[in-house]
Amino acid sequence: MADIRDFIEGLPKTELHLHIEGSLEPELMFELAKRNEIDLPYASVEEVRKAYQFTQLQDFLDIYYQGMGVLQTEQDFHDLTMAYLEKVHSQNVMHVEIFFDPQGHTDRGVSFDTVINGISSALDKGREEFGISSKLIMCFLRHLDELSAEKTLDAALFHKTKIHGVGLDSSELGHPPSKFKNVFERARREGFKLVAHAGEEGPPEYVKEALDILKIDRLDHGNRSLEDASLTERLADSQIALTVCPLSNYKLAGVTDMSKHPIKTMLQKGLKATINSDDPAYFGGYMTENYLAVANALPLERDEIITLAQNGIDATFCTEKEKEVMHEKLNAYIAANP
Ligand code: HPA
Ligand code: ZN
Repeated sequence: MADIRDFIEGLPKTELHLHIEGSLEPELMFELAKRNEIDLPYASVEEVRKAYQFTQLQDFLDIYYQGMGVLQTEQDFHDLTMAYLEKVHSQNVMHVEIFFDPQGHTDRGVSFDTVINGISSALDKGREEFGISSKLIMCFLRHLDELSAEKTLDAALFHKTKIHGVGLDSSELGHPPSKFKNVFERARREGFKLVAHAGEEGPPEYVKEALDILKIDRLDHGNRSLEDASLTERLADSQIALTVCPLSNYKLAGVTDMSKHPIKTMLQKGLKATINSDDPAYFGGYMTENYLAVANALPLERDEIITLAQNGIDATFCTEKEKEVMHEKLNAYIAANP
């Protein structure tokens, strides 16, 4: 068998849980701050990286919202997205479904159009230059109220061709999925795919609400589902996919030791688990690093790594034909790297 690092590096991958604002590397943060004449509370890139010490989700979110303040113009959003695509292209990622947080920008005076046009033009370029296919998922910030989410959905309707799905992110505890019942119902009627972060910090009950009340098509994180045996069985039976993010789980203290990461247990219990990077600039790694972290620490068998990559294709919002093409690419790689 090929060296595990080489095998994972070359593995054709998909990414289904990535906040584009979370791919803002400190170097680009400084460049954009200079471009937009914004003062940063850090003297250097090293100082920024040193500040990335989190003990819970909220610690990270405070720094994440502060960081995105340098994103002002359409060009900034374009450059941010291109930098991400270039990086994952080098890691053999063939398809991405990425989140963006419009309220994190509109609430500080940057228009919805600026955000979506900058991201979309980069996704188009990434398709042409790198052959990376992509879909965009707009997330509602759950610490804000449902009315704010409704207004965000209204804005999205002007860009329906560019947005494939809607999701739910930000501070989970105290903001259960049921808070967004009406706006998710309307989003479904408008034809959007639905996803939600649940069970990252929140209890299994939040996952059940996401399934039963929001009627999600895919579950983001979902780790705490394992605390509830009947919920775990339900997820296995329905084969609803979980977008798991190992380095994020480690950095936000849900998982204190990578050798205890639940991804292997998830696979053993028949869950459709996938590997993703969440906020790579903040958590220390993109797709390859996330695969490697669990593959080395647990460890994972070659077959389990392959299952994760296959799940990552099955769990996309692509057509069956598009999935087939990606599976063929993956199978060819596996055959060429015994
Ligand atoms: N969880 C919740 N909200 C987020 C995250 C996350 O990991 N990243 C960006 N927004
Ligand atoms: Zn996330």
